[in-house]
Amino acid sequence: MAEQTAPRATTNRSTTPGSDTFKDYISSGWAERPETLPEAREQAPFAADRRARLSALHTGRRLVVPAGQAKVRSNDCDFPFRAHSAFSHLTGWGSDTVPGSVLVLEPSGDGHEATLYFRASAGRDSDEFYANPEIGEFWIGPRPTLAQVGADLGLATRDLADLEAVVAGADGDTLVVRDADAELTRRLDEVTASEPASVVAERAERGDDLARDLSELRLVKDAYEVAQMRRAVDATGRGFDDVVADLDEIVAHERGERLVEGTFNRRARADGNTVGYDTIAASGDHACVLHWTRNDGVVAPGDLILVDAGIELESLYTADITRTLPVSGRFTDVQRLVYEAVLEAADAAFAVVRPGIAFREVHATAMRVIAERTAEWGFLPGTAAESLEPDAQWHRRYMVHGTSHHLGIDVHDCAAARRDLYLDGLLEPGMVFTIEPGLYFQSDDLTVPEEFRGVGVRIEDDVLVTADGAENLSVGIPRTTAEVEAWLARR
Ligand code: GLY
Ligand code: MN
Ligand code: MN
Repeated sequence: MAEQTAPRATTNRSTTPGSDTFKDYISSGWAERPETLPEAREQAPFAADRRARLSALHTGRRLVVPAGQAKVRSNDCDFPFRAHSAFSHLTGWGSDTVPGSVLVLEPSGDGHEATLYFRASAGRDSDEFYANPEIGEFWIGPRPTLAQVGADLGLATRDLADLEAVVAGADGDTLVVRDADAELTRRLDEVTASEPASVVAERAERGDDLARDLSELRLVKDAYEVAQMRRAVDATGRGFDDVVADLDEIVAHERGERLVEGTFNRRARADGNTVGYDTIAASGDHACVLHWTRNDGVVAPGDLILVDAGIELESLYTADITRTLPVSGRFTDVQRLVYEAVLEAADAAFAVVRPGIAFREVHATAMRVIAERTAEWGFLPGTAAESLEPDAQWHRRYMVHGTSHHLGIDVHDCAAARRDLYLDGLLEPGMVFTIEPGLYFQSDDLTVPEEFRGVGVRIEDDVLVTADGAENLSVGIPRTTAEVEAWLARR
């Protein structure tokens, strides 16, 4: 890891003094900093339980779960660091993760011993302290000590330099989460590269099994995670309230969509959070672009504005919620017709959610409503029943995306889980997913009457499977036409 500590080249503009006199001078004259140890954070026992469940799946194998490195945005500037979700899930370390950290589960008896390697606080006698803009205390603030992080997360900790011994000792039974830290994965692969190609390939495949298991471990949320999802949804509701409150200013601005994004993101930052994905602020026919994040359009009176946004907490759990609002305060007849159809699909899908049904039933239920309404309006070249046949699916022209995805520490959570456990899996209490039907009539779609063209509606809620049914976590954010109109009227 040593090569990563060197600061990026700025020799053409560096003014840092390098004399021994200066180094001696800047490394002295500092007050003692007593080391206070925090109590273990709330998620520590939950993370320990997750590690135990992973351990049971990989007896005898060394498991390497990196947090990842900061990603370059441009030249010597990075994107804000965000730890790999699997790392955060297994350690409980969230937005305060030190970049480059690595969790290692070392086989021990029937189980594993967990050690967290990270770049600990550097002394004030190091060059890094004042001369390294990427990681130096003068530049980005102090890092915690090994003991502080150990107490905070309830984990054994070691300095990142000691990871070298783990890398050197890697063998065919060392599995790494391969997409977390490309350089560490390359180095682990290199150590075993002299083995026959079939052994190397098998090991990479088992690395994919590790990613799969880590995804599947997250399909059912524990009590800590459910509480975080509630908090993320509540925080997202505050962001939506702010957007509604600012609507007059938004409409008056030539790039009103940018103000929607800014208002939501301001609330996220002011509350100590960030966003789980780029906010979609899509007004008028931009609402028909599913992931419209350019957000450079006007928010015009008479149009609908579709806002798809989610707060990510410091624990990295995120909400994913969409509301579609009539900019002038009341839905037109056509907007209302489309909105009510989407709401009917969402409510029908929610009504079937309970433990034991297949996840795919949620989507199938919403699609029946979408097919029926679009057939009834005369938009399909046949009946709803014909459209629902696998080789027809005409109604999907107006909603090409799926109805639901798992949600948690990733907005599209559990992405590497097997289809048998995901789309074809059965619902269990503790699962959290979205229900997000929509109807999108592109502005140049000749299959629909002119008054429907350019109308796009999505309603997205975050749903928890309970012991005997489901709870809509985001039901408190106005979603019926009457609630939405009352919300807009209150501002
Ligand atoms: N915001 C992305 C999605 O709804 O899946
Ligand atoms: Mn979604
Ligand atoms: Mn969304």
